[in-house]
Amino acid sequence: MQRSWSALMIAADQDRAGAPLLRTERRVEVVHGTVTRAALAVTALGIVECYVGGRAVSDEVLTPGWSAYEWRLRYRTHDVTQLVREAGAHLVLGLALGRGWACGRLGYTGGRAFYAQEPSAIAELCIEFADGHVQTIVTDASWQAGPSCVTANDLYDGQSIDARLRDDSWLSPGAMLNDWGGVHPVEFDSSRLVAYRSPVVRRQETLGPLAIWTSGSGSTLVDFGQNLVGWVRLRARGEPGSVITVRHAEVLDHGELGVRPLRSALATDRFVLSGADDTFEPTFTAHGFRYAQVDGFPGILQADDLEAVVVHTDLDRIGAFECSDPAVTRLHENVVWSLKGNVLDVPTDCPQRDERLGWTGDLAVVAPAAAYLFDVSAFLDDWMADLAAEQRAADGRVPFVVPDLLKLDQKARGMFPPMESVAIWSDVAAWLPWTLWQAYGDREALTRHFPAMVAHVRRVERLLSARGLWEGGFQFGDWLDPDAPADDAAKAKADKAVVATAAFYRSAAITAAAARVLDDAPTADAMTGLAARLRGAFREHFVYDGGHVVSDCQTVYALAICFGLLDGSERDVAGARLASLVAGSGYRIATGFAGTPFVLDALTDTGHVQSAYRMLLQPEPPGWMYPIRMGATTMWERWDSMLPDGSINPGEMTSFNHYAFGSVADWLHRVVLGIAPGSPGYGDVIIAPRAGGGLSWARGSLRTPRGLVSLSWSRGDGDSITLDVSVPDGMRAIVRLPGEPEHQLAGGQRSFRYTTHVAP
Ligand code: BGC
Repeated sequence: MQRSWSALMIAADQDRAGAPLLRTERRVEVVHGTVTRAALAVTALGIVECYVGGRAVSDEVLTPGWSAYEWRLRYRTHDVTQLVREAGAHLVLGLALGRGWACGRLGYTGGRAFYAQEPSAIAELCIEFADGHVQTIVTDASWQAGPSCVTANDLYDGQSIDARLRDDSWLSPGAMLNDWGGVHPVEFDSSRLVAYRSPVVRRQETLGPLAIWTSGSGSTLVDFGQNLVGWVRLRARGEPGSVITVRHAEVLDHGELGVRPLRSALATDRFVLSGADDTFEPTFTAHGFRYAQVDGFPGILQADDLEAVVVHTDLDRIGAFECSDPAVTRLHENVVWSLKGNVLDVPTDCPQRDERLGWTGDLAVVAPAAAYLFDVSAFLDDWMADLAAEQRAADGRVPFVVPDLLKLDQKARGMFPPMESVAIWSDVAAWLPWTLWQAYGDREALTRHFPAMVAHVRRVERLLSARGLWEGGFQFGDWLDPDAPADDAAKAKADKAVVATAAFYRSAAITAAAARVLDDAPTADAMTGLAARLRGAFREHFVYDGGHVVSDCQTVYALAICFGLLDGSERDVAGARLASLVAGSGYRIATGFAGTPFVLDALTDTGHVQSAYRMLLQPEPPGWMYPIRMGATTMWERWDSMLPDGSINPGEMTSFNHYAFGSVADWLHRVVLGIAPGSPGYGDVIIAPRAGGGLSWARGSLRTPRGLVSLSWSRGDGDSITLDVSVPDGMRAIVRLPGEPEHQLAGGQRSFRYTTHVAP
């Protein structure tokens, strides 16, 4: 329901280093009796932290995150009943602002303040009293604004805090406020205000240093042991006015902080000491890092002087996986950490360099794994609302990034040529809702997302060539194929039209299926017809010699097999060709963003599961195990972001925290462990582990909308396998084991023993 606002969006009259404090002091109308309820609705163009009666109203950080602000600025409503009661008759409502996504830097072209020139906030505090009276306190021109101890703040570049300026008296009634001034209303259309659907960002955990040492150049370096996203909280006491600098990076480069992959992001926090015991925590920035360089610390830095604070959208962890091979379990853990690192309110490509954008293709491929590991339903439902808003304004075109910063950069600085939909990236509009539907079975969510699915398909339909193919025009294609040159990630082996037509066929087929779920027969018929035409054109132009696919490489076979573009024996031929390409490459991966999510499934589904295992476990680059051997704690952007000699890949894009290749976790869940949705939202669950790769056991669980499914299997003597399954009441488990008839289980626990002919 749309809320009506009487508050004004206000900003400080003076800039205050982009981090002003806003306050109002009011008498609480206690003549009306006790406070029965008080609620604060608030948001900002920038970042806002709120205080009522001197106390923080929430432990959330970086609110309101980043949404497509032109149409959707999300607000929070906090229950502040207790805080208002405790404040008594004189209440101070305070808002601390930072630049955030609206006013700070965004993107890789150096632009900033894409949505607003100055941080501003809007708030309404409604206090209800015992006699039914309601007092409303709103942001308006009567508020005051003053300086904070934050002297610089930017998400990419870092934050400066001068502890000498810290003065909490602004939150007390009757404070003497030197150097404070006024505020002014900012023009703002309150119909853009929408309630959050997504959970907010919170601190999740802290990690202490694993090691602190002095580098060759004499710098103090700290290793937190895990590539993570957040900031360093630091305690110090020293000369007033002396400065501690904390610079962050994901890797070391020749024994020093490896900052080159950050490109222009400075990722540097500065803390000025007050002379007393100071604690610094920069909450208006975020860094992707494992290592920190700390300069200017008074005395010798000790482990208990600092910790890394992990920050991300507060998603519930619902899926678990581990197995007997510690390297595979570590790979899985790396996917989990890359997800944590790339859900800082927006599902991003990477969290560290001057980018951190909602690249749609990255999400399209990792979404199935993400939906198992975390409950991403509300988070991605919120993001889909941004996608739909962008898409509506672009006549059905799905941008490369959501929110669409590239469009804003284009407007502001003419940075990019006009863009058109592209395969996989734009296909997120169809693929993601279908993934969410499979994982959570929420029909209302599918109904909400359906128009975006249809609009995407309609748009791309208009781009098809006379041959009925998606060919010509710009495509990212099989982005980051390991055989592409380091400086030309789109130059893949896979033919771009093959990839695009296959991906679009999948979108049309999925949209037809969604239309059937939603009882929209005309759309279902139209989409089914389109899908059939695409399939026909694909087969006519791209399939030859009974199952070979044009450009003959791992990715095109993976897509043709997994998307159902081949018939009967063609599928066997394609599977055999894929298996032989894989063996011929020494089981090295030869796929980029397009092929990687599907290559192991394509092998598995055509009878080559042991080849899939060999590919998974192959230790040389390119492959999933190589980064593990190199000590990776997150998924890398490139198969060889770090080269075998420990140096950083010279490519312009070299992130060590990119979730796209983490799509493999989906195969680990469905095939190695053996838990897959049998019907949307796990009304049915398919239990079908495929032992292999020398693994002696695997175990895991998933908290589905119907309850907890857990499973473990272990290899006994010889080829015997014991499988223990537990499913909640009301869920049907369909158990498919090699060489066994299908079993069905309606709730409860059950053990199975079977043999597999595959040697351990
Ligand atoms: C991003 C990718 C993204 C790609 C598309 C890169 O800069 O980091 O992950 O999908 O651009 O071209």
